[in-house]
Amino acid sequence: GTSLDAKIKAKGRDYFGTCTDKNTLSDPAYEAIVIAEYGQVTPENSMKWESTENVRGNFTMSDADFLVAWAQQHGKLIRGHTLVWHSQLPAWVSAITDPVELTSVIESHISNVAGRYTGKIHHWDVVNEVFNDDGTWRTSVFYNLLGPKFVDIAFRAAKKADPTAKLFINDYNLDYAGPKVNAMVALVQRLIADGVPIDGIGSQAHLILNNGAIPSMHQPLATLASTGLKVALTELDIRLPLPADATKLMNQRDNFNLATAACIRVPNCVGVTTWGVSDKNSWVPGVFAGEGAALIWDEKFAKKPAYDGAEAAL
Ligand code: XIL
Repeated sequence: GTSLDAKIKAKGRDYFGTCTDKNTLSDPAYEAIVIAEYGQVTPENSMKWESTENVRGNFTMSDADFLVAWAQQHGKLIRGHTLVWHSQLPAWVSAITDPVELTSVIESHISNVAGRYTGKIHHWDVVNEVFNDDGTWRTSVFYNLLGPKFVDIAFRAAKKADPTAKLFINDYNLDYAGPKVNAMVALVQRLIADGVPIDGIGSQAHLILNNGAIPSMHQPLATLASTGLKVALTELDIRLPLPADATKLMNQRDNFNLATAACIRVPNCVGVTTWGVSDKNSWVPGVFAGEGAALIWDEKFAKKPAYDGAEAAL
């Protein structure tokens, strides 16, 4: 085949993927691209805590069920995303003050959400964004009440709920050497030493056009892989100052080529996931004012030069 997914598989990797959900898949033009080009889907929002247990003990799984059924129907792998994260977290969780109670809340959440899809999930992002950019722990109800051991609790619960899924820790700004990559490596080494079930490290790779780290981003990825775990680019996009023009799009092509090549250069890198398909649906313009056009199809579902850049790395 000639799809990005077929090409990355021919390089011995597991998938080329995208985030998606029921809302974006409802557009037939979008759905057709996911079917044709991608081998893996990550629920963009439907498996997050606010989506799955916004009210304590009341599990609302219909959108996540839709994504899982869609993936199975179309033969796509699934990266479950995400079980424990400080963001898109209901206020009732953040209001907990008793560490024993929080532990049982985490365990119940993971047992219900991950346990619902046992055997159907390729990777789980068990914990997301636990570090600040300086390598210190991010403040959250999880860290504040339980310290670093909330990570152990979450991974052990995920293993119990779904013994076959590969369990990942995921974060952003792992694209350049520095304290955040060092903190991630140290944590993973500690988890391995303590017998905590962990299989992989996800590097989100939300990049900025022409960022100086892009040409060497295989190096921090190799540092993460030196733990012996799998690594993956889990949320790749490359945003630019709007409006796009021909020069920016050519630079973006070269940037997508380097980012995709970074995975291929690291033997333990199992796949690349872009955070969306089309610039029409990307999260970027809503969060980064004046920036956008971060993906490899444009708003009218035409392939951008960025598509060719990614393809040329495969
Ligand atoms: C984003 C989604 O794309 C948006 O639709 C949502 O409003 C906010 O979250 N890091 C992550 C993803 O791990 O879950 C985030 O997804 C983007 C940043």
